[in-house]
Order: sequence, then C-alpha cells, then structure tokens
Amino acid sequence: MKIGIFYSSARGKSEFTATLIKDLLKENCDVYKIADDNAIVSLMKYRKLIFIVPTYGFGEPHEDWKKGIEKISKVDFEGKFVGIIGRGNQGFYAATFVNGMKPLYDILVEKKTSIVGFTETKGYDFVKSSAIVEGKFVGLPLDEIFMLQETKEKLKKWIKNNFGEFLNEE
Ligand SMILES: Cc1cc2nc3c(=O)[nH]c(=O)nc-3n(C[C@H](O)[C@H](O)[C@H](O)COP(=O)(O)O)c2cc1C
Repeated sequence: MKIGIFYSSARGKSEFTATLIKDLLKENCDVYKIADDNAIVSLMKYRKLIFIVPTYGFGEPHEDWKKGIEKISKVDFEGKFVGIIGRGNQGFYAATFVNGMKPLYDILVEKKTSIVGFTETKGYDFVKSSAIVEGKFVGLPLDEIFMLQETKEKLKKWIKNNFGEFLNEE
C-alpha cells in the first residue's frame, strides 16, 4: 500500500518539499499536484495522505488549496489518516505564520479524518499563528529560514513518527 502526497506550489518550496519526501519514501509514495484535473479521484485511492500547503495572501492557503478544500468538502473522508505540512515564513509573516494549514485542518476535522503529526511550537520564532490547536501546530511547519539540513531532519523525524511504515531506507 502506498501513501499519497498532494501539494500546491507557486514559488517552488512546496514542490521541493514533495521531492524531499519522494527521496525518503521512494516507490512507497505517489506525488500529485492538488490542482491536477483528477486530483480528488486520485486522492480517494489512498488511506494515508500527506498534504503540503503554502500560505499566501493574508494568511490563507494558496489558491489551489482553496479550490482543493472546496472539492474535499464534497467527498467522504472518514477512515483516512492525513498529515499536514505547512510552508511559510516565520520572519516575514510572523503574525500569520502557516495560517494556511488551518482551513485544511478544519475541513478534515469536519470530515472525521484522523489528523496526525501535530508539532510543538518550541523551536519556532513567530508572533501568531491560527494553525495552533491546544498548544500545538496542526501539522509540520517548514520555513525558508531553516537551513536545508534542518528541514530535512525535521521532515524525516515527522515522517518516521507518523508514517514510518512508508520510509524506504537503504
Ligand atoms: C505574497 C506572499 C504572502 C505570504 N504570506 C504568508 C503568510 O501569511 N504566512 C506565512 O507563514 N508565509 C507566507 N508567505 C511565505 C510562503 O508561504 C513561503 O514562501 C512558502 O515557502 C511558499 O511556498 P511555495 O514556494 O511552494 O509557493 C507568503 C509569501 C508571499 C510571496
């Protein structure tokens, strides 16, 4: 069984994150853009999923995800396990840091999806984020201020803890 990775990306960071995940999971994952015509049909094939969402505008999900959320709102998601990765910038957008994760989280909660991969706020330097529930981020925030090595380490640890069965280490 494979895991489905779905992302959108205006400037390449989320796409790069998807390639880092592909490097870790190899043939155990399939990667799609959420804006693909048949993305929702593809999405329904997987029980476990990772969604990568960048924040734009005034702390909103990137527009492809806004449309994606609307589509997700129309399908049955019960019994699925989803981990959310939020791409953002805690330096430039400290008061809306990774806010884009929240509307996605909210629709998944409404859909009775199991959401995994909540992350402690310790180690992040921001002012405010709507993507915090009960003291934790609702997914894994990744930020361009982190060095590549740090990003890779955070990602690997998060995957190991939440989707370890898909890790493909030689
Ligand atoms: C116009 C604009 C608005 C942004 N707004 C936010 C924001 O509110 N919160 C945040 O954490 N990051 C914000 N960012 C940072 C992006 O989310 C970040 O650069 C992300 O890595 C972009 O992902 P992408 O390269 O996959 O499109 C913004 C970036 C731009 C250019």
